Amino acid sequence: MCGIIGYVGTERALPVVADGLHRLEYRGYDSAGIALCADSLSIYKSTGVVDDLTLPESSAATCAVGHTRWSTHGKPTDANAHPHTDCHGEIAVVHNGIIDNYESLKAELADHAFTSETDTEVVPHLIEEAWNGGDLTAAVESVVDRLDGSFAICVTAEGCDEIVAARRDSPLVVGHGETGSFVASDVPAFIEHTRRVSYLENGDVATLTPDDVAVTNGGDPVDRPVETVTWDAEAAEKGGYDHYMLKEIHEQPQALRQTLSGRLDAVNGEADLDLDLPEEYVRPLEEIQIVAAGTSYHAGMYARRLLEEYADVRVSVEIASEYEVTGGRDPERTLAVAVTQSGETADTLDAMRKASRAGARTLAVTNTVGSTAAREANHTVYIRAGPEIGVAATKTFAAQVVTLGLLTVELGRERRALSTAMASDLLERLRDVPGAIQQTLDREAAVREAAETYADADAFFFIGRRFGYPVALEGALKLKEISYEHAEGFAGGELKHGPLALVTEETPVLAVLTRGGEPSDLLNNVKEVESRGAPVVGCSSLPSASKYLDVELEVEALGVFEPLVANVYLQLFAYHVARLRGRSIDRPRNLAKSVTVK
Ligand code: F6R
Repeated sequence: MCGIIGYVGTERALPVVADGLHRLEYRGYDSAGIALCADSLSIYKSTGVVDDLTLPESSAATCAVGHTRWSTHGKPTDANAHPHTDCHGEIAVVHNGIIDNYESLKAELADHAFTSETDTEVVPHLIEEAWNGGDLTAAVESVVDRLDGSFAICVTAEGCDEIVAARRDSPLVVGHGETGSFVASDVPAFIEHTRRVSYLENGDVATLTPDDVAVTNGGDPVDRPVETVTWDAEAAEKGGYDHYMLKEIHEQPQALRQTLSGRLDAVNGEADLDLDLPEEYVRPLEEIQIVAAGTSYHAGMYARRLLEEYADVRVSVEIASEYEVTGGRDPERTLAVAVTQSGETADTLDAMRKASRAGARTLAVTNTVGSTAAREANHTVYIRAGPEIGVAATKTFAAQVVTLGLLTVELGRERRALSTAMASDLLERLRDVPGAIQQTLDREAAVREAAETYADADAFFFIGRRFGYPVALEGALKLKEISYEHAEGFAGGELKHGPLALVTEETPVLAVLTRGGEPSDLLNNVKEVESRGAPVVGCSSLPSASKYLDVELEVEALGVFEPLVANVYLQLFAYHVARLRGRSIDRPRNLAKSVTVK
């Protein structure tokens, strides 16, 4: 996720775009840049936040585009920062999203001079081919037809007092102001200048001039209604949600589409994470050691079962701070996988370094391009969830599991452990995760009601089996960290070995009753707690469970990924309980987003 803004009007564009970028930094902050467009184009870009840009004191330009980046292709460097330009520096492009076919497009542009490692840079070069100084909109229309993947782009060019914007699966909103026209990935970028907005739809191409915005779709003119937003700038930054955490929970379908984008071929049963792990290493691989902390550890637990079941490799998952390299293992045939959204967790880095010193290859699974984990690991795969601001990890957990699901298919195929049919089946289910999560989110009112019923309980228990077990642990972690109430997750089968003594009429039990979570066996555990009077909230795809549940939250059919979908109900439950208790949801007490001390 990146932030983009464009302005063309009667005011000086530099302060408008620079202020807008500050307001978009929550969408990305590893590098930034601005193109000022007057008779000639001037580009200012660098790594770091918007304040790190060296900008001119003033500029007479009244047209500009800007970008604040969260890297997905290419490290955060000055060269990779946006805007990107064509060979002559006449066309500037900023982009949010992923262009899946950039490598093949780049191969067709062999006589063009590329200066970055980004997928975006193909766009200005393609426009250069299509544009002859004439109709910029027509040139952009012809280029976007050739792009696969998701994108929101803004283009401006030397001598043109206009911006052409196009979107597919990445948001873009237009602002209709008194002093000109605005376009941005989100309303806060220009809310100080206008509240009159129209939302572009997939396939739209908009041409912004100082006093008009013309939109086409498939070459035909279309009208996008103008709405007036009533939020203030802070609420707008949270997309109208009261907390970043809730916004990030709701962002999961979009985030996961990014995670999956261009990485799977369900028809042929192939996944490709661009890992460059040699086949002669993968085939005889003996063991995978996953090291992680907190929520990432729970994602690692989920992955362990996926990898053991479908890639036929022995997997251990270790709490990073407890990790030790013990004897009897063959480091040469071991892959240590560090799962860490920040890429900066000291315990996880420490464990990864220990594994590396012992001779194991290392793989970082992270959300943060250029992070220490990404720099130090032998291999890196990005989960592409976009920045997460709420301290409680939500969308990054889902993106970690989905990425590790893709890794499972890639390794399973290479190790000849997974048939094409089985791989296709898993990939189809992964592809359906975003839609199933959307359906879950659409039932938020039922979760809020359950939270209202049980918010005053003294303790909450979460139970699950197999893939549902890490989700039970994650549900409990989420609730305890943001509500400050006692919450514990258990493997369903363990209840009778001790924890059942804690269960009373006052302790709600949340159960992950889905495929992939041994629902029939877990139902026996539900009966154990129900017969002791405990209220049960079931995230369920098991119709026969209904009569034992006080609240039933339906989970779509999705095989081993059903618990991942059920987890979204648990995130919402934690959120609403914490909210009813008036907690500081985005910044819970004593916790930090990135834990860089041991
Ligand atoms: C919980 C949470 C933490 C992190 C943990 C590891 O909501 O966010 O438990 O999961 O601190 O952080 P990363 O993934 O950055 O290594």
